[in-house]
Amino acid sequence: MDTLECIKTRRSIRKFTEQSVPRKDLEELIEIARWSPSYKNSQPWEAIILSGNKKQELSKTLVSLLEADKPNKPDLAAPTSWPEAENNRIKHLLAKRKELTGIDLGAPEMIIKAKKANFNFYYAPHAIYLFQDASLSDWSLFDIGLFAQSLMLAAHAKGLATVPQAFATDYAAEVKKALGIPSSKRLIIGLSVGYPDMESPVNGYRTERAEVGEICRWLE
Ligand SMILES: Cc1cc2nc3c(=O)[nH]c(=O)nc-3n(C[C@H](O)[C@H](O)[C@H](O)COP(=O)(O)O)c2cc1C
Repeated sequence: MDTLECIKTRRSIRKFTEQSVPRKDLEELIEIARWSPSYKNSQPWEAIILSGNKKQELSKTLVSLLEADKPNKPDLAAPTSWPEAENNRIKHLLAKRKELTGIDLGAPEMIIKAKKANFNFYYAPHAIYLFQDASLSDWSLFDIGLFAQSLMLAAHAKGLATVPQAFATDYAAEVKKALGIPSSKRLIIGLSVGYPDMESPVNGYRTERAEVGEICRWLE
């Protein structure tokens, strides 16, 4: 697949087939993503790939923490407010999703349902957690974001699908404990990985983007 087409056609997938991905293909995602640029080539990224029982056990733990009303505590705090332009785009996304699926992601009971789906990694056969040393600067957050995008693009180019999930980091301490990640690390993002089920209406919506003129100015 052409690079430009790959960037433009990648999308978050939230329904996967049951087919698991061969280990060598998952390994290749990391092999490609590690070529991402980083501040002074510091490469501030580490990954854990979960499959099978280990993934299921973690999902069970996360769902039970939610059901026990345990307050969430991600290492990167969830935003509590947004500037106007970004907020309008979020509202637009929620309205579109509601229109197309009937699901109101703003309703409290739907938030619980959505969290459970996230904690189950949308029933994908694999999950990937990305983390890095907690003492790193904001530049390293930038770098690991680049790594995540490279990984998602590599997956898409290989016919695989992903969705990045901040929700998967809700119970950061418990995830780190379960996966043997030292508490000196910060959990950045979880991703579901597998083959896309393109028959599912959940995967039918292509998110929109602000026009170039809205986000870019020319000075000459
Ligand atoms: C940092 C980050 C966190 C996200 N967290 C979640 C999440 O917790 N659950 C989820 O279903 N999607 C999550 N997403 C996916 C976004 O909703 C999605 O990228 C956005 O709507 C654009 O759609 P697209 O990825 O299909 O282009 C996240 C994306 C990013 C970049």
